[in-house]
Amino acid sequence: MRLVRTIDEVREALREPRARGERIGLVPTMGAFHEGHLALIRAAREQSNVVVVSLFVNPLQFHAADDLARYPRNEASDARAAEAEGVDLLFAPAVDELYPPGFDTWVEPGELATVLEGAARPGHFRGVATVCTKLFSIVRPDAAWFGQKDAQQVAIIRRVVADLNLPLEIRGVATVRDADGLALSSRNALLSAEERHSALALPRALDAGLMAHHSGHDALGAARAVLAAEHGIDVDYVEVANLGAPTLVAAVRVGTTRLIDNVVLA
Ligand code: PAJ
Repeated sequence: MRLVRTIDEVREALREPRARGERIGLVPTMGAFHEGHLALIRAAREQSNVVVVSLFVNPLQFHAADDLARYPRNEASDARAAEAEGVDLLFAPAVDELYPPGFDTWVEPGELATVLEGAARPGHFRGVATVCTKLFSIVRPDAAWFGQKDAQQVAIIRRVVADLNLPLEIRGVATVRDADGLALSSRNALLSAEERHSALALPRALDAGLMAHHSGHDALGAARAVLAAEHGIDVDYVEVANLGAPTLVAAVRVGTTRLIDNVVLA
């Protein structure tokens, strides 16, 4: 595996494989890898000749500066994990490499970026769409992999790719969960044992919603009832949204930690 920091190095490293017609796969990440990230890397590894992983904590998608400062960073252990998964190129640029002085162009997703996570985090999806479009332009992958854990993010990226006619495929990967059902997230480490217990109401609520849906009942009502019964949780939203497929999505706060999760109603 090669660790590279500049756009020129990425382009140079991919020149020959591209000329040979090899399939290039991209997994965009902000690092602090867990099994969710590794599932994306494994899916890319299976379907690509060259796997590129980007590791960049994108300041454009953070609302508050302190949130950005608190984001976990473990580049050395991420590099070891990426190498063990057979990644070919780890692209870990400095902020100035992607946003040099004078940078002033944005990719502004439309309506889908104003609801749910977009309403809770204004400007967030504009930052995500901008950095992903730049990564697509730098790496020029045949396909890029995103987690269904962030269902709204995948839907927005698919919209951007379709609307701007970007020449790559977007692949979704199923949410990886801990044995107790909690979706893996770097934020889970911030939960106390008691908070984690309360947080389990989130996957339980989505599961109850899915079961209600399967038996012809109200998915939203079933999910809301489970969350209302858990006192350690504040509900930010629970909705059924059309994210390519009808999806039951929820965001909750447990103490100071905000968690999101979703399930496709199929
Ligand atoms: P990050 O939070 O590092 O996530 C990188 C990718 O891992 C995303 O596609 C996310 O959906 C996926 N992922 C996270 N937890 C997962 C889980 N439990 N199961 C499956 N996949 C999971 O999402 C971002 O970074 C950024 O917004 C990014 C797309 C890199 C743009 O900066």
